[in-house]
Amino acid sequence: MSPKQRYSKRVSLFTESVIREMTRVNNMYDGINLAQGFPDFDPPRPLIEAAKDALDGGFNQYAITWGAPSLRQALAEKFGWYNGVEIDPERHITIACGGTEAMLSAMLATVDPGDEIIVFEPFYENYGPDTLLCQGKPVYVQLYERGDEFVFDDDELRRAFSGKTKAIVINTPHNPTGKVFSRAELETIGELCQEYDALAITDEPYEHILYDGETHCSIASLPGMGERTITINSVSKTYSVTGWRVGWCIALDEGITTGIRRAHDFVTVGAAAPLQEAAAVGLRFPQSYYDELAAGYVERRDTMLSILGEMGFDYVTPKGAYYVMTHYPDCGFEDENEFSIFLSSEIGVTPVPGRAFYHRAEMGKPYIRFAFPKTPETFARVRERLSRLAEFRR
Ligand SMILES: Cc1ncc(COP(=O)(O)O)c(C=O)c1O
Repeated sequence: MSPKQRYSKRVSLFTESVIREMTRVNNMYDGINLAQGFPDFDPPRPLIEAAKDALDGGFNQYAITWGAPSLRQALAEKFGWYNGVEIDPERHITIACGGTEAMLSAMLATVDPGDEIIVFEPFYENYGPDTLLCQGKPVYVQLYERGDEFVFDDDELRRAFSGKTKAIVINTPHNPTGKVFSRAELETIGELCQEYDALAITDEPYEHILYDGETHCSIASLPGMGERTITINSVSKTYSVTGWRVGWCIALDEGITTGIRRAHDFVTVGAAAPLQEAAAVGLRFPQSYYDELAAGYVERRDTMLSILGEMGFDYVTPKGAYYVMTHYPDCGFEDENEFSIFLSSEIGVTPVPGRAFYHRAEMGKPYIRFAFPKTPETFARVRERLSRLAEFRR
């Protein structure tokens, strides 16, 4: 008898994350990790204090599966003032282990085998495997580089919708391109969702990281979209605590929330109880906190772009989030993967090869992505290291 394959057909459809693999490559070469998107500076002090208080204050056992009441209440208030949608903390929120689990639980709750899920490409790596784990079928709609932005074609988007479409995944501000979907673009998407009775699953972890006067629009706030949207978010990026693993799904359709809570309950039971208490404190920070966060990122983006400009990288200016998609100089490498490994091993700065964001590796060949939630000291080291590239250029 030939040996059985030990892992399922489902997981054979994808590989481990390229982004997180690049972190391991980076650590092998003791490089500067501009691959995985995490800040190398501390979160706000009051948040740390709140976490300590929660640990000391007895919040050390399971929280209610779908989230600590304090966090759900704070989230409902914030979703009202920032995203413009009134929600009920008892009926519309599920707290999960980061946006990552929130997305998987949302899909497990709504996607049946064979359902089609529309995904804009390039896409944040997790959406592909999430869809495949649910035995859904991803349908990709391209974001084309046009001038200094990424845009989709309305006709192509329309053609992607059909009777089999269960949902479209939106991510704004967008990782990896830095695109901020405009209200008009979201209206186009929303109209198609309504015409084809599809859901919008929108991932908005960078909602406060915006540049050049851009504003954030949540598709849940558009007419007709409240009941057919699942909004996913987390504390990871807004409060610089990617290791806390506290996120959430917001769904105004109570049937959907019931489904999400069921999936979530058996995937993780719940997110860390003391960190949920601390997150509730963060969600009540005043507007000035978000203004300062955004101002800090304007500086970081501009520094990153000035380094890339000096070194001859041809990039697309991000309008939001904290990544930049860039073409790379010709140093004689076969493709963006070889260039990325070279950059990590020889230069000591690690990017993500473009293939991480496309369903076919060759589509990512023109690009690498840098993450820039970093301190001035890190940028100074990046500048110094990247200046060595001049020796290798063709
Ligand atoms: C678009 C997007 N969604 C989700 C996540 C994961 O976030 P979390 O830390 O909340 O799981 C990331 C992290 O980089 C991201 O960029």
